[in-house]
Amino acid sequence: MEEKMKKIMLVFGTRPEAIKMCPLVNELKSRDSINTIVCVTGQHRQMLDQVLEIFNVVPEYDLGIMKEGQTLFDITIGILDKIRRVLESERPDVVLVHGDTSTTFVTALACYYLQIPVGHVEAGLRTYNIYSPYPEEFNREAVGIISKFNFAPTQLAAQHLLKEGKQADTIFVTGNTVIDAMQHTVKDNYVHPELNWVGDDKLIFITAHRRENLGDPMRQMFRAIRRVLDEHHDCKAIYPIHMNPLVRKAAEEELGGCDRIHIIEPLDVIDCHNFESRCYLCLTDSGGIQEECPSYGKPVLVMRDTTERPEGVEAGVLKLVGTKEENIYTTFKELLENPDEYKKMSQACNPYGDGHACERIADILEFGKCKEWYS
Ligand code: UD1
Ligand code: UDP
Repeated sequence: MEEKMKKIMLVFGTRPEAIKMCPLVNELKSRDSINTIVCVTGQHRQMLDQVLEIFNVVPEYDLGIMKEGQTLFDITIGILDKIRRVLESERPDVVLVHGDTSTTFVTALACYYLQIPVGHVEAGLRTYNIYSPYPEEFNREAVGIISKFNFAPTQLAAQHLLKEGKQADTIFVTGNTVIDAMQHTVKDNYVHPELNWVGDDKLIFITAHRRENLGDPMRQMFRAIRRVLDEHHDCKAIYPIHMNPLVRKAAEEELGGCDRIHIIEPLDVIDCHNFESRCYLCLTDSGGIQEECPSYGKPVLVMRDTTERPEGVEAGVLKLVGTKEENIYTTFKELLENPDEYKKMSQACNPYGDGHACERIADILEFGKCKEWYS
């Protein structure tokens, strides 16, 4: 008897989810026994569309929920209201969500209400402090209660899920799909006018956007960076800024007028990975960049108090510097002035995968197991 085709719906809404889910969309679409459907919430608009275009993904559904200055209430209500009809009419066999955004949590909640099985990609990352990062730690823990399939990027993430009481046969260690995405982005012959501007100086790559850092912590981060750049004339910083107007206002007020810092529009993912691979070091509060920079051996100063990615800290490539001006200033300066310290932090390592995560996830969904296991 012919087996019924499985209907798998992927739901995502922000830039980082799209970067990590689009390679999986394309892998699933290449499988004959899977009917792949994409629904984007549009929690992000321009930053999401930029990624969809690069990966040639055209969603079947777009909930278009983004509003300028949206609150967590706006996002939650917007998605819950609109996704119900999509889920009820499609009735997928499985819905895949990614990571820890509001799109992720609200979609999983809607699936739970409709009793549709959820698969969680990038499952098991934890800080165990639901206010840091906020609201991401709550989101991923809550999805962990609902999910039927858990695709953990690392052994450590899988251990968290086991300790929380998840059944071992629901957990699959696959690697992180961002490493799959990176296989196609970084090129030796890459050129960009901003990199010409940097020339032979050291490129300092900056990003910042976390909700819990908006306001004073973000201003302290920017002040520290500015002080160091004012003192080091062999460094130039490039900061592709997030579209959040609150981030833009703080950056303009604290960093504006400094001719060693270029604040530019969000880079597309190909540009972003090429900039990362060519930088001297990175300062960020991003989650994804903590996974990407280690594989290029680029030191990352993580401007947060906690990280759910301790694998990179253990490997020595990431350092948590918090959000206090004085601490960021001292650590950043030390890394520029002490070659031994820099050497220690610039060891290439890649604890987050081997570039075959999408294949493994698709195998599990198609055949119920991985062809070969990742350990
Ligand atoms: C969201 C996620 C966060 C993730 C981040 C990645 C939540 C609660 N937060 O945070 O986990 O790390 O995305 O970037 O899910 N905006 C635009 N155009 C865009 C995108 C954003 O104008 O394409 C502006 C809008 O004014 C929006 C604001 O940015 O209101 C903030 O976006 P939002 O999705 O609420 O939060 P992020 O900080 O992006
Ligand atoms: N990124 C990008 N353009 C940029 C800044 C970041 O494509 O201008 C990519 C980056 O390479 C990584 C992801 O966006 O893959 C990280 O997204 P973000 O920092 O917004 O979210 P987080 O990972 O913290 O959830």
